Amino acid sequence: MSSNVRNLARLPHSLGVAGTMMLVLASFPGWAQESAAIGQHARDVATGVCGTCHGPDGNSINPMFPRLAGQHAGYLVGQLKAFKEETRGDPYAIGYMWGMASGLSDETIDALGQYYAQQKTGPGRHHDAATIARGRDLFEHGIPSEGVPACSACHGPDALGNDMYPRLAGQHAEYILKQLASFQSNMRNIAVMHGVAQNLRDPEMQAVADYLESLP
Ligand code: HEC
Ligand code: HEC
Repeated sequence: MSSNVRNLARLPHSLGVAGTMMLVLASFPGWAQESAAIGQHARDVATGVCGTCHGPDGNSINPMFPRLAGQHAGYLVGQLKAFKEETRGDPYAIGYMWGMASGLSDETIDALGQYYAQQKTGPGRHHDAATIARGRDLFEHGIPSEGVPACSACHGPDALGNDMYPRLAGQHAEYILKQLASFQSNMRNIAVMHGVAQNLRDPEMQAVADYLESLP
């Protein structure tokens, strides 16, 4: 075979690679524009719609509305999908969030998760030292005699959470209490948190909720 023929034989392959590269390059700016547009749309939704209740940056003031700032994107996406699919079902979730989430596309949900995960959290709220000490003890050690596990085992030593478990640090105590009651009664039907909450008494829940609210 002459070298010309060999080169010709290789031609279609090299064209194929170059062609693919050109396609990738050509589509890249479009893709970047599209994801910037989705990011901007999510910011507009967050500040213009969600912000009424959750605060424009996710640092809500009213304890009925959970703080979303600094929460993990994966957890936020999971919850928004649970509202959209109507599986997170206590009365406030049904009344406030099912409708809110029903019109959000998966792309917007992902971008909202990113938006809130990037927002700065505020300082913790003051609670008296004795309550904080009781709450911290429960958070770090659970109540072995009651079969209550240490919360820190999943939510992390400083309650900052991770990709699998939500952040609890700085969350409104009132909201945390309401969620623990919902896990207990299975209105928010999550097996692992039902197991954790089933033997907690009201004063124990209050102490751990106050401790969590006091964290930055
Ligand atoms: C009219 C008030 C209101 C508006 C507007 C609103 N929410 Fe909510 N949201 C709530 C309430 C109340 C809850 C708590 C539900 C519960 O207690 O289970 C909640 C819960 C959530 C949660 C769960 C947080 C957690 O820690 O589990 C997420 C995520 C959320 N909202 C995101 C959004 C997004 C995104 C928007 C805008 C598209 C939005 N919300 C608009 C009232 C509102
Ligand atoms: C074995 C792991 C595990 C342990 C231990 C655990 N949790 Fe959780 N917790 C979870 C998971 C998973 C979720 C998210 C549930 C979901 O996806 O809706 C959660 C969610 C929560 C929420 C809801 C957060 C929100 O923003 O709505 C609260 C409040 C909570 N946990 C408090 C506690 C407390 C208090 C303890 C200790 C008494 C504890 N958890 C121990 C796994 C755990």
